[in-house]
Amino acid sequence: MADKFDIIILTLFAVLVAIYYNRDFLKDLVLNSSDEVFKLENGSGSRDIVTVLKENNKNFLVVYGSQTGTAEDYAKKFAKELMAKFKLNVMCVDLEDYDFDNLTALPSNIMISIFLSTYGEGDYPDNALLFETWLKSLDQIDSSLKNINFTMFGLGNSTYEHFNGAAKSALKLLKENGANLIGDLGLADDGAGTTDEDYLSWNEKIVEKIKVFLKLDEQDLVFQSSFEINYLDNLNDKVFLGEPSSQYLPSFTGGVPFNKEKNLQTGPFNINYPYVAPIVKSIELFDPLSGRNCIHTEFDVSGSDMKYSTGDHLAVWPSNSDEVVATFLKAFNLKGDKIFDLTSKDPTMKLPFPTPTTIESTVRYYLEITGPVSRQFIRSLVQFAPDDIIKSKLLELSNDKDQFVKEIISNYFNVADALLYISDGEPWTTVSWDFIIESIPRLLPRYYSISSSALNEKQTIHITSIVENNRNDKVRLPPVVGVTTNLLRNIQLNRSNVPEDAVSKSEFINPLPVHYNLDGPRNLFHGYKLPIHVRKSTFRLPTNPQTPVIMIGPGTGVAPFRGFIRERVRFQELNPNVKLGKHLLFYGSRDLNDFLYRDEWEQYKQKLNGSFEMVVAHSRLPNQPKVYVQDKVKEREDEILKLLQDGAFVYICGDAKGMAKDTHSTFVGIYSRGLNISETEAHEIIKMLKSQGKYQEDVW
Ligand SMILES: Cc1cc2nc3c(=O)[nH]c(=O)nc-3n(C[C@H](O)[C@H](O)[C@H](O)COP(=O)(O)OP(=O)(O)OC[C@H]3O[C@@H](n4cnc5c(N)ncnc54)[C@H](O)[C@@H]3O)c2cc1C
Ligand SMILES: NC(=O)c1ccc[n+]([C@@H]2O[C@H](COP(=O)([O-])OP(=O)(O)OC[C@H]3O[C@@H](n4cnc5c(N)ncnc54)[C@H](OP(=O)(O)O)[C@@H]3O)[C@@H](O)[C@H]2O)c1
Ligand SMILES: Cc1cc2nc3c(=O)[nH]c(=O)nc-3n(C[C@H](O)[C@H](O)[C@H](O)COP(=O)(O)O)c2cc1C
Ligand SMILES: *[C@@H]1O[C@H](CO)[C@@H](O)[C@H](O)[C@H]1NC(C)=O
Ligand SMILES: *[C@@H]1O[C@H](CO)[C@@H](O)[C@H](O)[C@H]1NC(C)=O
Ligand SMILES: *[C@@H]1O[C@H](CO)[C@@H](O)[C@H](O)[C@H]1NC(C)=O
Ligand SMILES: *[C@@H]1O[C@H](CO)[C@@H](O)[C@H](O)[C@H]1NC(C)=O
Ligand SMILES: *[C@@H]1O[C@H](CO)[C@@H](O)[C@H](O)[C@H]1NC(C)=O
Ligand SMILES: *[C@@H]1O[C@H](CO)[C@@H](O)[C@H](O)[C@H]1NC(C)=O
Ligand SMILES: *[C@@H]1O[C@H](CO)[C@@H](O)[C@H](O)[C@H]1NC(C)=O
Ligand SMILES: *[C@@H]1O[C@H](CO)[C@@H](O)[C@H](O)[C@H]1NC(C)=O
Repeated sequence: MADKFDIIILTLFAVLVAIYYNRDFLKDLVLNSSDEVFKLENGSGSRDIVTVLKENNKNFLVVYGSQTGTAEDYAKKFAKELMAKFKLNVMCVDLEDYDFDNLTALPSNIMISIFLSTYGEGDYPDNALLFETWLKSLDQIDSSLKNINFTMFGLGNSTYEHFNGAAKSALKLLKENGANLIGDLGLADDGAGTTDEDYLSWNEKIVEKIKVFLKLDEQDLVFQSSFEINYLDNLNDKVFLGEPSSQYLPSFTGGVPFNKEKNLQTGPFNINYPYVAPIVKSIELFDPLSGRNCIHTEFDVSGSDMKYSTGDHLAVWPSNSDEVVATFLKAFNLKGDKIFDLTSKDPTMKLPFPTPTTIESTVRYYLEITGPVSRQFIRSLVQFAPDDIIKSKLLELSNDKDQFVKEIISNYFNVADALLYISDGEPWTTVSWDFIIESIPRLLPRYYSISSSALNEKQTIHITSIVENNRNDKVRLPPVVGVTTNLLRNIQLNRSNVPEDAVSKSEFINPLPVHYNLDGPRNLFHGYKLPIHVRKSTFRLPTNPQTPVIMIGPGTGVAPFRGFIRERVRFQELNPNVKLGKHLLFYGSRDLNDFLYRDEWEQYKQKLNGSFEMVVAHSRLPNQPKVYVQDKVKEREDEILKLLQDGAFVYICGDAKGMAKDTHSTFVGIYSRGLNISETEAHEIIKMLKSQGKYQEDVW
């Protein structure tokens, strides 16, 4: 066994590798992610946070590090609340848009509130990576942040090992450098489903603290728009009708960036500029008897210079369904065809989505209008209550947590459903459009583990997505549906030419709960296209093909391993004389009806000439005990320990909630029994393997 000194050296090396690796990653992510649509309206264009604060006479700074928009949403609401309540001049910004080097010279009357979520394995979100680098670069000796008074709210999920890892790390670093935390660190837990409640109780205390600390006077909460809205008459080719970025507008000079010589649309493609990729294959993977749907989708990227590596994630840009768009427009009494433009009243405030655009395009393509409603949103509606009865209903729901859960959450209401429920079906004519666009979060792309191999299929990207279509216990139409996965399923059915009435009549095909405009804005998606971009991950096969590999991926968790195995198959074809290391895949499904890619694995086995083995666990076979992947892992523990001692890499993908944790404990057991060491020591070994990249997780 490695002694302590080795562990230290190895860990140090891993950290250096991580920093080195991150350099390119950071550059990629940060330097090329500003798009002209979202450019700040005015200002000197400086990236120095202190310069911009001073230029704009700001006396309060709210920053957010956010991966899927939750932290961003709370940060913006918090900023608005401080502005309305205390007339503070708040600047609310994305951590990736500014440099923080000069924060050491922040005027001491400016306070900071930090909202930070955690991603990966206790990591900072992508947009906070530069901030993290800056924090870690401070020397902790001269208390360079002693001028800073700050509050912090972390967002995480206690099902992950490093609960709120990023917020805790940032807090420690800030304190070590002399910054002064006001109030308590807020810790939101998505795992307990209490993010919103956690925010509300933190907010209540912290707002009071800030009020006292800065000696502020409180005013009545009245919504004031950060944007000026101008309505336009003329639908010209500068008006966005749902285009994902300005490159796709007809007015964009010369159309999308295109290399004539190579005949390719050019990137870099990212969260601000996706590639509108044709779907060249789309199939249902589950048997109808499973009662569920899982869609295999292949995107053709040969018309672009888009590249990916095996193990990366694909971001798919969704749109909302006809049904939810209609309900939303109805609930707020909106006229979909109205055209409007936005300008920021505050030059430091980014526009929330591309404009000018129409109200319907906004609702369909740019706003997250499904998903559960927050109690905070209900509370913010009080000021718009059309009458006293509704006002008291809103107050009751926003003050009584249990009542809110009973009437709103347990009915799976989204914003529009909740409003129509509260008003008994009457449209809300009192809520202004500027309030709506500032209160409803942006519709963001969803990520999928790529299930193809860049070596085997350079020009197509495959994904494997389980369709979120939960029928409620209470019979309610339409059921709770996921935005993106139902869009992918609609494309699959439409492409395979199954007529809708055949779907609705068939007892074998699940009914389509919702419908979409598959042609997209100005026919941009016609012929089955969707906007996509690749997000780099660190989930990578060992470079040496002779290194043994242990993969654990039940359900859709098998997606990246299909990519891995296809990679090895191709490698073997190209290098028939190389003997591969053992590749052992543990897969689990309920039964044979949801056995993903069942026919493919046999071919892979043949092509890999004995170096690939698949072990399957079924959990719901009739009259059989429930078997999970980790049970199968345990059955083979002697062999697995041997592989680990030969330097095997371990990969775990899929459900973070139960599976990844249970599998982790299984490995702890394998080490502690096998090496006759304590569980704590076994934990340490796995920690070390993780830091060396030999134990990798891709869990969600
Ligand atoms: C790194 C990463 C990799 C991933 N890889 C894969 C993969 O390979 N395969 C895969 O299938 N998924 C994967 N996912 C998950 C995927 O990104 C999506 O989250 C998933 O497909 C659901 O997306 P959606 O748009 O269909 O659902 P959403 O619209 O995002 O809805 C999410 C859930 O909320 C529910 N919901 C909607 N409205 C309400 C309401 N009012 N009240 C309560 N609940 C509601 C929906 O039913 C659904 O279950 C991955 C996620 C991450 C982060
Ligand atoms: N973070 C999360 O909460 C999370 C993550 C991934 C997936 N999901 C949800 O799960 C649904 C289906 O996803 P999926 O298709 O990937 O998986 P799935 O088909 O539901 O499950 C695949 C297999 O994993 C088994 N399994 C369940 N809990 C396990 C555990 N603790 N350890 C090991 N195996 C376990 C299942 O068994 P049984 O079901 O028979 O017990 C089944 O045999 C989706 O709706 C998705 O939203 C949630
Ligand atoms: C792939 C993935 C990994 C995550 N990893 C962690 C983690 O390590 N620790 C944690 O506390 N929360 C983790 N979370 C939970 C998120 O931090 C939490 O959902 C948060 O509300 C997201 O905020 P955001 O939308 O601003 O990024 C993870 C979520 C996902 C989807
Ligand atoms: C950023 O994009 C430009 C082209 O727009 C490209 O030349 C440059 O190499 C890119 N930088 C990085 C770090 O990807
Ligand atoms: C810090 O501020 C000084 C003067 O205000 C400015 O010259 C310098 O460029 C700033 N540094 C950074 C990294 O922006
Ligand atoms: C922040 O705290 C420091 C001391 O900790 C104090 O000197 C400074 O005035 C404070 N800032 C504000 C805005 O009160
Ligand atoms: C957090 O954990 C809960 C279950 O504990 C799960 O349902 C939810 O999807 C998780 N959220 C994220 C973002 O992973
Ligand atoms: C931005 O600058 C333009 C002139 O370039 C000016 O007309 C406009 O009022 C400014 N907007 C804001 C929000 O400062
Ligand atoms: C496919 O979609 C188009 C456009 O939405 C529609 O006209 C057509 O009827 C659909 N075909 C099937 C088989 O559902
Ligand atoms: C394939 O397997 C056979 C039998 O196990 C073995 O004799 C042969 O050498 C293998 N080929 C390669 C390239 O490993
Ligand atoms: C395991 O370790 C304990 C002490 O740590 C020792 O007493 C015991 O004999 C060991 N068992 C084996 C099988 O090596």
